[in-house]
Amino acid sequence: MKDRTPVSSDLAEQLVDALNAVSGAHPGHRAAHARGVVVAGTFRSTAAAAEHSRAPHLQGVDVPVVVRFSNGSGDPNAADHTRDGRGMAIKFRLADGTSTDMVGLTMPMFFVRTPEDFLGFLAARRPDPATGAPDMAAIGAWLEAHPETLPAVQFALSTELPASYGTSTYYGVHTFELENADGVRQPMRYRWVPDAGVHTITDNEAQAGGAHYLTDEVTTRLAREPVGFTLWWTFPDEGDPLDDPTQVWPQARRQVEAGHLQITALASDQAASDRMIWDPNRVVDGVACSGDPILAARGGAYGVSYTRRTSA
Ligand code: HEM
Repeated sequence: MKDRTPVSSDLAEQLVDALNAVSGAHPGHRAAHARGVVVAGTFRSTAAAAEHSRAPHLQGVDVPVVVRFSNGSGDPNAADHTRDGRGMAIKFRLADGTSTDMVGLTMPMFFVRTPEDFLGFLAARRPDPATGAPDMAAIGAWLEAHPETLPAVQFALSTELPASYGTSTYYGVHTFELENADGVRQPMRYRWVPDAGVHTITDNEAQAGGAHYLTDEVTTRLAREPVGFTLWWTFPDEGDPLDDPTQVWPQARRQVEAGHLQITALASDQAASDRMIWDPNRVVDGVACSGDPILAARGGAYGVSYTRRTSA
């Protein structure tokens, strides 16, 4: 697998500034995925997971987790019924007091291949200062020059609104590398599939639910029943791209059921939990990050956003 390219702190700052230019700067909030709800539960991996990884959270024992569901926008006041990607960020609390994170999105692919391209794409998405509306000419020009962005845009535009944070599939998007006790390495991508199935609703139904319908729904659902997700790993064939998050691997690739997440309650202190950081680069021995430049860039940008929002 390709080595990781470190991200300069300057680029990380630029990425956060560029996100702010699209959604506005909102002191005290994340530059992306500003609105969220934090819940808690347990993860238990399968025996198959331990065959592929020696990581402590993949050894078949119950691991406590803190999970943040979120909307993609950097505007904390954007209504839940805005068309948007949704996030599920999971922090596994390990027995030695450390933690490891997985941060996925309701999209199987990302918009761009590099952080530099993400700056360009965000610049094209900056609203027209005169009207506040998206600049369709700039977006069109970007898509013409960057056909790799099209699948993600088409996915985002064609996906209906989620009925619940608990009835969406969340994708890790990047490739990671598992390593087992014998030192055998295996690249993988992951996704979380909801036990209750995938359910969407119409824009009218979502609007009738109100601006906070997703948070309200998950609160009501958890009072009634747990919310479960199954973790699936996909293993690539020779030649499948390992460092390009715009490209989805073909469906026929080998799938391994790796574990189950059971969410049981809202976190008791939402404000304190929401301040935490979830970063997909926080891996532990037995799981490694690929050379995907977008994955590496996320580490720097999340750190900048965290520093800004917690010192606001
Ligand atoms: C270069 C590309 C990206 C940049 C610059 C970026 C930037 C950010 C930033 C600044 C935050 C807020 C972090 C914080 O304050 O804690 C964030 C959160 C988030 N991002 Fe990204 N992101 C990128 C790519 C992705 C991708 C590919 C995914 C999909 C897997 C993703 C999913 C999320 C999620 C789910 C959150 C919310 C995490 C939480 O709940 O704390 N992002 N992103």
